[in-house]
Amino acid sequence: MNDVIGLLNAHRSIRAYKKIPVSQGTVEAIVQAGQASATSSFIQAYSIIQVAQGEARSQLAALAANQTFIAEAPVFLVVCADMQRHKMACDMNGADMLSGYAEQFITSVVDSALLAQNMVIAAESMGLGICYVGALRNNIAEVSDLLGLPDLVVPLFGLCIGYPSEKPDIKPRLPVKAVLRQERYDDPEALATLQAYDELTREYYQTRTGGQKSQSWTEQMAAKLAKESRPHILAFMQSKGFLLK
Ligand SMILES: Cc1cc2nc3c(=O)[nH]c(=O)nc-3n(C[C@H](O)[C@H](O)[C@H](O)COP(=O)(O)O)c2cc1C
Repeated sequence: MNDVIGLLNAHRSIRAYKKIPVSQGTVEAIVQAGQASATSSFIQAYSIIQVAQGEARSQLAALAANQTFIAEAPVFLVVCADMQRHKMACDMNGADMLSGYAEQFITSVVDSALLAQNMVIAAESMGLGICYVGALRNNIAEVSDLLGLPDLVVPLFGLCIGYPSEKPDIKPRLPVKAVLRQERYDDPEALATLQAYDELTREYYQTRTGGQKSQSWTEQMAAKLAKESRPHILAFMQSKGFLLK
């Protein structure tokens, strides 16, 4: 369609990187492009912690399910939802900040995701590869302590960036008709659409893994969602002043 859409459709997560450094100027250009994203009521409710290769990075990799590519990535950023700056803004203006609303949590998480995805597109447009790291939330309190995060700042996910040394196949997404509904949610073809997608994803995994993995998308989701989903997160968020009301 055009070059931007071509770039978006060529996305695949990259978990192996060339040992070529990424300049700090490039990192800052990526962050600036992230900041250009839309932001709810102009709040810009995020901060990014860059962690160089070394002891702290290795600890983060261990806390995030021992995923070795985290320690090896030339650049590693932790994207945090941040309402601490807004507390400062209120203090500077003699206002008592009313914090802890679920609405503020949604706003800061959405803002952070928009920032991050703009950063991803910027990075990929420069020939870099990325992988998000949600596994940081396995041990979110330890990650928070390691990064020295104060109240009203919580780590959401990491982002590895580097020049790719692999080119995995693109993972097929749900068809547009599965996610784009007209006027109302009801879709009489929903089940048939999922069954067809199961065939596609099973084939994708069989080809990509040489037959070792052949789980379909619904099987993968069923296996994932029949388990608890990081039940420690709510208490952690509340301990940092989020999701209290
Ligand atoms: C918020 C977020 C967290 C993720 N966390 C991890 C992770 O911890 N480890 C990992 O290998 N991939 C992680 N991923 C990558 C997804 O597994 C990947 O995007 C998805 O399987 C689709 O594959 P693709 O990006 O290659 O198209 C994460 C992606 C997102 C958006």
